[in-house]
Amino acid sequence: MADYERHDYDVIVIGAGGAGLRAAIEASALGAKTALICKSLLGKAHTVMAEGGIAAALGNVWPEDNWKVHFRDTMRGGKMLNNWRMAQLHAQEAPDRVKELEHWGALFDRTADGRISQRDFGGHRYARLAHVGDRTGLEMIRTLQQHAVHKGIDVYMECTISRLVKDGDRVSGAIGYWRESGKNVVFGAKAVVLATGGVGKAFKITSNSWEYTGDGHSLAYWAGADLIDMECVQFHPTGMVWPPSVRGILVTEGVRGDGGTLVNSEGVQFMFNYITPYFAAETADTIDEAERWYEDKKNNRRTPNLLPRDEVARAINTEVKAGRGSPHGGVFLDIASRRSAEYIKRRLPSMYHQFKQLADVDITAAPMEVGPTAHYIMGGIRVDADTAASTVPGLYAAGECAGGMHGANRLGGNSLSDLIVFGRRAGMGAAEYANKLGAAPKLDDEALDRVSHEMNAHFEREGGENPYGIQRDLQESMHNLVGIIRTQSELDEALTHVAQYRERAKHTVVEGNRQYNPGWHLAMDLQSLLTVSEAIALSASTRKESRGGHTREDYPDTDAEWGKVNTVTRQGKDGQMEVTTEPLPQMPADLQELFQEAH
Ligand code: FUM
Repeated sequence: MADYERHDYDVIVIGAGGAGLRAAIEASALGAKTALICKSLLGKAHTVMAEGGIAAALGNVWPEDNWKVHFRDTMRGGKMLNNWRMAQLHAQEAPDRVKELEHWGALFDRTADGRISQRDFGGHRYARLAHVGDRTGLEMIRTLQQHAVHKGIDVYMECTISRLVKDGDRVSGAIGYWRESGKNVVFGAKAVVLATGGVGKAFKITSNSWEYTGDGHSLAYWAGADLIDMECVQFHPTGMVWPPSVRGILVTEGVRGDGGTLVNSEGVQFMFNYITPYFAAETADTIDEAERWYEDKKNNRRTPNLLPRDEVARAINTEVKAGRGSPHGGVFLDIASRRSAEYIKRRLPSMYHQFKQLADVDITAAPMEVGPTAHYIMGGIRVDADTAASTVPGLYAAGECAGGMHGANRLGGNSLSDLIVFGRRAGMGAAEYANKLGAAPKLDDEALDRVSHEMNAHFEREGGENPYGIQRDLQESMHNLVGIIRTQSELDEALTHVAQYRERAKHTVVEGNRQYNPGWHLAMDLQSLLTVSEAIALSASTRKESRGGHTREDYPDTDAEWGKVNTVTRQGKDGQMEVTTEPLPQMPADLQELFQEAH
């Protein structure tokens, strides 16, 4: 038997961004012995990349705003593929979660009369993002982290989980390794919450950092859980495009929310050419009419620069392909000609420094160059809306690795609120399950040894390939063939490539030993990158329509029949990945009525 360090808990939470922290706080508050496990250092999470704000219908700045309007915006933004119950709970509970953050010490920007200020973002009918300059995610992490540490929750940092372990049908723990020493570590647990974030590192250009290799999605899938709507990937319209070393780094939607405009190389505010019926149906038949409408003071804030992200990303893609892009293959984002330098530095301090330091551009005087970047996956682990339970007993999921909440496209600002609404619910669900369970389920020694052997195998082979080359090729294939615009032949080609990379990955060889060895870490991360890439490409190939973040050139229309189903990815009996379709949960009549009302 291999050697393991072992720890036992009622609840372990894997992933320590906003959702993981909030889940751990809740589970611990309910009396469950809880541990928080993070791949990186505590506080380093993609949550900080939700810069511009946290969406909650506080009704502070627009008294007309309420949860019903937020719910409707979220469903419409998600092109109605959302799990309605998740969207409802999210809209109803987000205001309380924001106030709770404030109670725990978060310092939101204020209006002149002292209320929480709210910023405009795409697809939201009213300005409803509580924010802290353009560092909202960071403030949220800081607050939750401090709260969790003061509650005495055990935190395991720089620890990667490789597999979940089961006792029969139930999850009973997890096995992983310390990144620093390379030694095995095992956690026995009555319940496990996955909160590992997204899959950005499967793509060449992404706002995600190295940690985001689809770990939670894959751990759940390997343990037998369902994933839904994996084809729905969000390309944030505005990532940096220059210099190459920083390509993909996020440029917050807050720039457009605060008045920034997208302009092509001909100096045209091209988003006026992409106004959709969804946005301006009753208001404008022609671009001239639409422009007049936007100039109207009351509606001025609803600029088409703030269309939902999927629509803006596609528009930028079209402009660049048509030869109207910026010198480095993006478009221009101009706030300098709209706002004073003082305003920009106060409202968007990180953007000011980011461009100054990384690109030598002063955004108070010159436009930024921006283009789409893989930012977020709407698809994920299928969960019960109320408890965050997956389809495997004892396994819970929250945040980006859980599916359903955002449908086919997420509205900006809805991720931070999702993290704390469903982080709390996952912590609650897991703790209640664990508290009822009685004796801890067993850890399967044979399974632990199998995983440990797989982890070592990379050092025992000869003549194989370095994992970095496989990752680079995978990212290239996903970018070129499973990106913003997709076709059947390209998706077929992508699936062939992924199968080839999987074969190559079986022969990866790593030099050195297990002590802080990034090549070895990547060799193991490749397993999850390949799993999520296959799930994305196979689901994209299955959904024969365009909807939200999933655009098929060969099926350009949204199809009502496809709007009634989720794609479901699960492991077949032979271990092969299978994608099927299953009906969406039925929305009750009283909520359906909200969509009959004008606007
Ligand atoms: O643009 C942004 O600040 C990102 C926000 C989000 O993804 O929710």
